[in-house]
Amino acid sequence: MEMIQRPRRLRRSIGLRNLVQETRVNISDLIYPIFVVHGEGIKREIEALPGQYHCSVDVLLEEVKEVVELGIQSIILFGIPKEKDEYGSEAYSINGIVQQAIRAVKKHYPELVVMSDVCLCQYTDHGHCGLIKGDQILNDESLDVIANVALSHAMAGADVVAPSDMMDGRVAKIRQVLDKNNFSHISIVSYSVKYASVFYGPFRSAAGSSPQFGDRKTYQMNPANTKEALREAALDIEEGADILMVKPALAYLDIIYQLKETYQVPLAAYHVSGEYTMVKLAAREGLIDEEKAMVEILTSIKRAGADMILTYFAKDMAEWIRRNPQ
Ligand code: PBG
Repeated sequence: MEMIQRPRRLRRSIGLRNLVQETRVNISDLIYPIFVVHGEGIKREIEALPGQYHCSVDVLLEEVKEVVELGIQSIILFGIPKEKDEYGSEAYSINGIVQQAIRAVKKHYPELVVMSDVCLCQYTDHGHCGLIKGDQILNDESLDVIANVALSHAMAGADVVAPSDMMDGRVAKIRQVLDKNNFSHISIVSYSVKYASVFYGPFRSAAGSSPQFGDRKTYQMNPANTKEALREAALDIEEGADILMVKPALAYLDIIYQLKETYQVPLAAYHVSGEYTMVKLAAREGLIDEEKAMVEILTSIKRAGADMILTYFAKDMAEWIRRNPQ
């Protein structure tokens, strides 16, 4: 028989396969999103996100204990306010739910990297990510408010602020306001490339943040565009972003790859609520193996070029990594 190439030689055993494995998800790559609510002793499972909870601050501390024990080093906090108004006032209130949560977590776990989502949509009664006038989402008028939200998080002790509003110029504005207030050491991870995606559905139901009119297409990106993604990323780097983010992840692996190839900054990918829930529900129906799907998906996001992954699977993945030394 003529000489044939035999790539299968290196797939013969688990040891050989591990030896030549090119990509691994590490526990330190994982960022765990947690939803915080007002009150005490609250741990309510979120219907749209099976296995995820609305936690009051006291329960959050128990949750964080578990997260830290698993070896996870970063979390991102999302707040559910008591009341919403036109301006999203609770988003920048010193005693807002996220601000309280950040203070409590940093007090008990000073080493944990605490990120905070900076946006207005959970806090405004109209559910948009900026201020509105009639049916218009105002850009420049929203920037001061958004920068104030970021500042209030930094004052509470956040290590990293993560603007997810997609207003033009918000990274520069946040950087300016943080620097002016002696927070030049606080990082910005910018949701630079955030698509107007259907995959945020379960999150919006979890956070009560669906827009009350229209949609988010005048500020979030068209899923069909690549060049625009590169441009958004370039602008955010110029404005002072320390880390870029692509969101969602799985339907945008090409975008993750291109950003990683093009820019020299750390890159995050958000494996969003809808991506998570699809796996959960398919598994619940017995149609897919949840754990294997999780590992395959998160590995592919890493392989595409993400340095870190925000995922509701963070705890499960950390457990899996512990059980499966690679
Ligand atoms: C707030 C925000 C959203 C998500 C993160 N921050 C929702 C949205 O933009 O509509 C989505 C996260 C997820 O789906 O898991 N703007």
